[in-house]
Amino acid sequence: MTSEMPSSYGDAFADVYDRWYENITDAEATARFVAMRAAAELPVLELGVGTGRLVGPMIRAGLHVVGVDASAAMLEICATAHPEVSLILADLATFSPTKPIGGALCAFNTLFNLTRAEDQLNLITQIGKALTPGAPLVVEAITGFGLDQAPEQSVGLSEVDPERTVMSATVVDAVSQTITGQHVEYEPDNTIKKRNWQLRWSTVVQLDEMASAAGLKLSERYADWSQTAFEESSQKHISVYVKR
Ligand SMILES: C[S@@+](CC[C@H](N)C(=O)[O-])C[C@H]1O[C@@H](n2cnc3c(N)ncnc32)[C@H](O)[C@@H]1O
Repeated sequence: MTSEMPSSYGDAFADVYDRWYENITDAEATARFVAMRAAAELPVLELGVGTGRLVGPMIRAGLHVVGVDASAAMLEICATAHPEVSLILADLATFSPTKPIGGALCAFNTLFNLTRAEDQLNLITQIGKALTPGAPLVVEAITGFGLDQAPEQSVGLSEVDPERTVMSATVVDAVSQTITGQHVEYEPDNTIKKRNWQLRWSTVVQLDEMASAAGLKLSERYADWSQTAFEESSQKHISVYVKR
């Protein structure tokens, strides 16, 4: 079930992404958080911009957004909704900005769509090189806390309505720090559609080490976009890194 191509996740989920995930996190709070910290005048990169769920709020918050994504299907939806935004089709595992940036946002576990730690490190390194002094790299991700105790395999229902049923199966491997999942969708015409995804999580300690190796340091960490205090048992984190 491993997704090999950088575009696999986006291409598989583009047609349902906004319907399934529109309100998965607080987009307005995300945008305000980034806008408060970004360096004025310079572009802010959204790494894994997808359909642009966060782009509208970021523009309204005054940011000059440039979106990067490996999925042409995702970018097409984003371009239709936000024709004014510059979009770059690129694999985040090898992407490096060509100009200085006033900030970067890697939201909703997108960093962990890079399923090799070295690719996560490379992205943080390349972003670190392009950040102007004081400008933030903002990462929103799960911490992995409790996943070593989670059931190794689980199946759940994501959606049931008269038209379709969507089931999701996941396998957690705490040793490789991966979650591998598949959404299985029974379509109205009784055909089945499968959508695969995989995350490789890094713990906050591992992320801080990567940031340090990339010449960055942690400047803030919260448990959510409302800036709730982060605790060791927090299941997700918002981390802000700046140049050392
Ligand atoms: C979970 S979605 C997040 C989209 C958007 N940031 C949001 O919060 O709604 C992850 C996005 O990252 C993109 N992505 C995954 N792996 C990628 C890679 N290796 N390079 C570039 N984009 C990638 C996917 O195509 C998808 O659009």
